[in-house]
Amino acid sequence: MQTRPLANGFAIEIIGIDVSVPLDDSLFADIKAMWMEHRVVVFKGQSLDDDSLADFAERFGPLFVHAQSSLLSSKRKEIMELSNLPDAERKTVHELDWHTDQTYTPKPVFATMLFGVVAPREGGETLFADLAGAYASMPAALKARIEGVKAVYSAEPRPRVRETPLTEEERARIPDCTHPIVRTHPYLNRKAVYLSPLHMARIGDLPEDASFQLMKELTAHATQPAHVYRHKWTEGDLVMWDNTSVMHRRTPFPPDEPRHLKRAGFYLPDELAVPF
Ligand SMILES: [Fe+2]
Repeated sequence: MQTRPLANGFAIEIIGIDVSVPLDDSLFADIKAMWMEHRVVVFKGQSLDDDSLADFAERFGPLFVHAQSSLLSSKRKEIMELSNLPDAERKTVHELDWHTDQTYTPKPVFATMLFGVVAPREGGETLFADLAGAYASMPAALKARIEGVKAVYSAEPRPRVRETPLTEEERARIPDCTHPIVRTHPYLNRKAVYLSPLHMARIGDLPEDASFQLMKELTAHATQPAHVYRHKWTEGDLVMWDNTSVMHRRTPFPPDEPRHLKRAGFYLPDELAVPF
């Protein structure tokens, strides 16, 4: 399989594979192993509709459905539209701070995939921070503060506000959730720091202010340029990442700059879900 490195020790491009056609078992196993080892994989020049995107994701695991029902597409609930085009059901127009998808649920989504339908000429990039690399390079004193510690994640941490606020029904249905901050990859013998600054409400038994300070320290370490890959979108890009090993953010983009991505994802099998 031909690949090209994209960042320092993680994120690669896999070249010459059309993911819209059925892949044989051995090629598929190679892609999965390559993806888990490198955390972020980019396939360029893809042509995918909702069904072929969902079919590719489902080959890896049970399809993800977002916990916030107001974000689901009316066409197919496993595909989320991130679009600011005039016909968008719900417009995605803002930047989005560092986070890991669905940390505030008991069994967070293992992988997320984004497919570039319309790429903005300016801004709207997706940045990835390598949380396995960040754990490996973490100073021992900082590591010691999070070893064996759990954090509370909230779908709507106060006082920060979501781009799309939760409905009353969602607020009642999605209670806060606790996960270990240091986790071992479900398939590999590799630890990573589990971070989601957008959703981390408290760390261990620290009060809110001290939790926030520690979260800022961990985030500053993990988002140093040496641990970050910046993906500038072009049409036909399919990017998939491992939510146990990277976090991501969206950079700002001009409101009149067309941008449309489709999102899918898949879960781990139940016995590997969390905590691990
Ligand atoms: Fe996300």
